[in-house]
Amino acid sequence: MNVLTRYLSAALLMGCLIMISCSTKKEDKAGEQKPGIEKTPYGQLSDGQTADLYTLRNAVGMTAKITNYGGLLVALTAPDKEGKFEDVTLGMDSLSAYVKNNPYFGALIGRYGNRIAKGKFMLDGKPYTLFVNNMGNHLHGGKIGFDKVLWTATPVEGDEPALKLSYTSKDGEEGYPGNLSVEVTYTLQKDNALKIDYRATTDKPTVVNLTNHTYFNLTGGAKRDILDHVLTLNADRFIPVDKTLIPTGKLQPVSDTPFDFTKPTAIGTRINDSTDTQIKYGGGYDHAWVLNGTGDSLKLAATVYEPTSGRVMEVRTTEPAIQFYTGNFLDGTVTGREGFPYKKRYALCLETEHYPDSPNQPTFPTTVLRPGQTYKTTTVYQFSTKK
Ligand code: GLA
Repeated sequence: MNVLTRYLSAALLMGCLIMISCSTKKEDKAGEQKPGIEKTPYGQLSDGQTADLYTLRNAVGMTAKITNYGGLLVALTAPDKEGKFEDVTLGMDSLSAYVKNNPYFGALIGRYGNRIAKGKFMLDGKPYTLFVNNMGNHLHGGKIGFDKVLWTATPVEGDEPALKLSYTSKDGEEGYPGNLSVEVTYTLQKDNALKIDYRATTDKPTVVNLTNHTYFNLTGGAKRDILDHVLTLNADRFIPVDKTLIPTGKLQPVSDTPFDFTKPTAIGTRINDSTDTQIKYGGGYDHAWVLNGTGDSLKLAATVYEPTSGRVMEVRTTEPAIQFYTGNFLDGTVTGREGFPYKKRYALCLETEHYPDSPNQPTFPTTVLRPGQTYKTTTVYQFSTKK
């Protein structure tokens, strides 16, 4: 190689490096993209219907990808302490992967988030039987819950782009009474928050408990487990369960138990405390905490901090409880993005909701919805950073 060739190759290499760094910058740097919403085809379902993927982008550069199949939040980016945007959720690469086997990644859950014991309940003196899909109990809406149906999507352009999803669940679907009209709106706010508004009305008395089941890993790209994430829960009590994860009916103070997250605590600190029966039943954390405070206003429920990225997520909700689940059932057999196997405790879920099994627990706040009433709840996941 003569001197000229060497210079030329060096210049070419530099050029390539500059181009690569520019294109990475364009994707990663905040503030370079216009806020708005973009729709692209996502794939076809076995019944011939097509699903779409909507990308919401806020003024700061945060993006949320949502499909009208199952209302799934497919990806959500948030900046780290250096301003680098990365996906903070677990997800899959294609619609067909979600259809085949999705452990509720990003899922909209209904009609009833969490469990109903033995899939049975009484309402106004009438017995109802639901599909049983989890250790003899009904979980997350049954066989074809709201996470597996095609919603009608209405995009709302603007500085704070939103996607309104509507679905009518027919009288008798999965065993539930009443035609239930549901509307869920995802809004990507300017302050790096994803807001989810849930609304529902019915033409017969029924039970409703809607939530979102996104799996979070604030390292970005699920680089490792979530045991070093530091969690604070605004909850002095939690709901103990039996070995099939159905509430015993009594609430228990968290003090002096591994369930005390009233002060910031690394999730891994007590997650394997085998002397604790509740930890044993859950295989880690898989319980609902009763949030402090009453009323329907938004209250801070949870704060999660991930020390290496500096990312912080705050969860605010109008709901009375939050299910904290540590991905105990992930075992590496579910392949996520780019063929990445998601292993045990590679994510955490913070599902805002009413208490599990409320239809069978007279002392729990009611989940009954009657004709003329509107079911209305809101949850906000807000992202920031801390050095
Ligand atoms: C919820 C449940 C868990 C588990 C996951 C999905 O969070 O509480 O027990 O079923 O959903 O795997």
